[in-house]
Amino acid sequence: MFNFQYYNPVRIVFGKGAIKELSALVDKSSKVLLLYGGGSIKKNGVYDQIIEALQGVRLAEFSGIEPNPQYSTCMQAVELAKQERIDFLLAAGGGSVLDAVKFIAAAIKFPGKEPWDILSKGAKVSSAVPLGSVLTLPATGSEMNTNAVISRQETGQKLAMSSRYVYPVFSILDPETTYSLPERQVANGIVDAFVHVMEQYMTYDVNAPLQDRFAESILMTLVEQGHNVMKNPNDYETRANIMWAATMALNGLIAVGVPQDWTTHMIGHELTALFGIDHARTLAIVMPAVWQHQRAVKGPKLAQYARRVWGVQTKNDEQAIDAAISKTKKFFAGLNVPVRLSDEKLTPEQCRPAAEQLGKRNVSLGEHGAITAKEVMEILELAR
Ligand code: NZQ
Ligand code: ZN
Repeated sequence: MFNFQYYNPVRIVFGKGAIKELSALVDKSSKVLLLYGGGSIKKNGVYDQIIEALQGVRLAEFSGIEPNPQYSTCMQAVELAKQERIDFLLAAGGGSVLDAVKFIAAAIKFPGKEPWDILSKGAKVSSAVPLGSVLTLPATGSEMNTNAVISRQETGQKLAMSSRYVYPVFSILDPETTYSLPERQVANGIVDAFVHVMEQYMTYDVNAPLQDRFAESILMTLVEQGHNVMKNPNDYETRANIMWAATMALNGLIAVGVPQDWTTHMIGHELTALFGIDHARTLAIVMPAVWQHQRAVKGPKLAQYARRVWGVQTKNDEQAIDAAISKTKKFFAGLNVPVRLSDEKLTPEQCRPAAEQLGKRNVSLGEHGAITAKEVMEILELAR
């Protein structure tokens, strides 16, 4: 196992009716900016619950944060927050709203001219406005991690930042807020969380059996509860289990002391930037191809996954690896999520700019840093 430090200060407030707790979580003397997306929180009652809980608190609002949040939108919110002398940001929505609010929190305090530098040049974040969240879409883990992913349409970029200053002070997770999700978003969330686990697990063995088994338990839970939610979308326990599994998939716990490989996400982000494909759907297309391409490197772990998560019995490793790939694709397809480029009516050739973009940034992906733009193109070929 590698050396590590683990620190996660996010207070999780989980369960039915948890939004009420806002009144105790938010400092009454602060001026709060409530930020949300295209209006789902107004339709499903989340907005009303927040307003009710924050009675007596000075409140301003910013709406219209789009899926795959845009830099220009975030910068409008930065302006408003400065004008209104906001001292606490409250995000209500899915990963896009949470990510936008994390970036806004850092951008308000950014001493440089252009906060985009945080994303494009890794400019240092040394403070941020404190923020909290009310999560309505289990998927990204943004509610309990340091990451944010922001897009810039003008340049076709989608880039990530990470800073401990943007950990939410608290995140409220009420599984009942997820009943209103369209089936497509439920499926996307399960796939995204599943792939997050994989990016921290599907590498090589470092004798970290606890991290492996944590990861496998999240995967098995997502498979089981994923089937359940499709059959019985109004079951509270199922919704609750999915929500907690998605948070645990990317709050840093399963990543401690082990190698990681974020190749699938890095390629996926480029496909979203190019074609606007939902984040999770890019992952479902790319990951099986990454495994096929890297099967020699990831072989032992792929076979372990096939045996432990899918109960594959064969003693032959090559057969187990094939089963790992085919069972995963079948699971995604069963959630009506595409598993190859042709499902999105795309060819590898059309995706070449994705490989070129990564090439321009001189990336070396994979747990051994061996995946460059050339290998990315080979992976896209395999995802045909
Ligand atoms: O905008 P509103 O009206 O709220 O509608 C949203 C949006 O249209 C809707 N929605 C959310 N909760 C709902 C709901 N509709 C009905 N009922 C509810 N309860 O769902 C749509 C999609 O929302 P979005 O926030 O975009 O989805 P998701 O949570 O999947 O977030 C995706 C973004 O997160 C980034 C992705 O790249 C993408 O930009 N990621 C963030 C990560 C992180 N911070 O750690 C890691 C991930 O790998 C990912 O990259
Ligand atoms: Zn993701």
